[in-house]
Amino acid sequence: MLQDKITQYSQEINAFVTDKADELEQFRIKYLGSKGVIKEIFDAFKSVSIEEKKSLGKVLNEFKQLAESKFNTLKEITESSESQATVNELDLTLPGEGFEIGSRHPLALVRREIVEIFAKLGFTVAEGPEIEDDWHNFSALNFPEEHPARDMQDTFFIKKGGEKGDIALRTHTSSVQVRMMEQGQPPFRAIMPGRVYRNEAISARAHCFFHQIEGLYADENVSFADLKQTLFYFVQELYGEGTKVRFRPSYFPFTEPSAEMDISCTICKGAGCQLCKYSGWVEILGCGMVDPNVLENCGIDSKKYSGFAFGMGIERIANLKYEIKDLRLFSENDARFLRQFKSALI
Ligand code: PHE
Repeated sequence: MLQDKITQYSQEINAFVTDKADELEQFRIKYLGSKGVIKEIFDAFKSVSIEEKKSLGKVLNEFKQLAESKFNTLKEITESSESQATVNELDLTLPGEGFEIGSRHPLALVRREIVEIFAKLGFTVAEGPEIEDDWHNFSALNFPEEHPARDMQDTFFIKKGGEKGDIALRTHTSSVQVRMMEQGQPPFRAIMPGRVYRNEAISARAHCFFHQIEGLYADENVSFADLKQTLFYFVQELYGEGTKVRFRPSYFPFTEPSAEMDISCTICKGAGCQLCKYSGWVEILGCGMVDPNVLENCGIDSKKYSGFAFGMGIERIANLKYEIKDLRLFSENDARFLRQFKSALI
């Protein structure tokens, strides 16, 4: 009886073909399912006589294997015909999926703009190490021993009292000017962009690191008039013609005379607003004539040569350009902020 059933089902299984997943699923349920034919036959097997069990056992196992291998073979066929179907459904005329191109960091954009302006005046770009010794960051630049900028409050020291004096993270890129002057003789005409570090509490207006562009022009007969004209040209290029400049006397150990340069407020054009604190002016950089001591420290004859130097914070220039009120945005890597600075140049 059971043998007959098995023979009949085996024929059915052998004859079965499909390439459709739902038909195959029906097949699985019918034969291999928890209430399927195989389960039913195995249950019936339990009640056959011992002699019959001997001969039927093998047949039963073969039957089970037949159903399983049929299922597996057909499964491969249905799956490949399904993927074939997806290929056939692929519509090549649909528009492609766009992918987002990143954008330049605002500081990189401003840096490049500044570099390009000075390049028109023949300034090249010089770079130097961020970890500096006392000589290049301070001593050569005429910083008196007790100058507050050497104080732990401003400088991140890495090593105190090494072979070349204290080792620190540079506090300005003037150190690159020293390196440049040590390595050659005037004329020098270069700008020094780079990251600098100061030990300050992080807030909207101050950070423990920021970016600077300093500049140096040294040659015979370089005068304060050259400095003024160079910086005036720079401001016209960067903020547009008609932007006014003014110089206020100031002090830096490495320049004499020294000045700070203000420009007429980029927002209110001098009428007075929150940004310029209703003064009509905003400070953008420090500058001056290189102190003869600095030239001599770097092996340059201060009787023969003179030079001017200036230094500005890139963040400050970017703040004025894009009206960014919080310095921390520059280093937080928030894509919502960064995405806003699309530039035509990648
Ligand atoms: N090194 C100065 C600073 O970091 C800037 C500066 C450079 C001022 C050159 C005058 C001349 O504040």
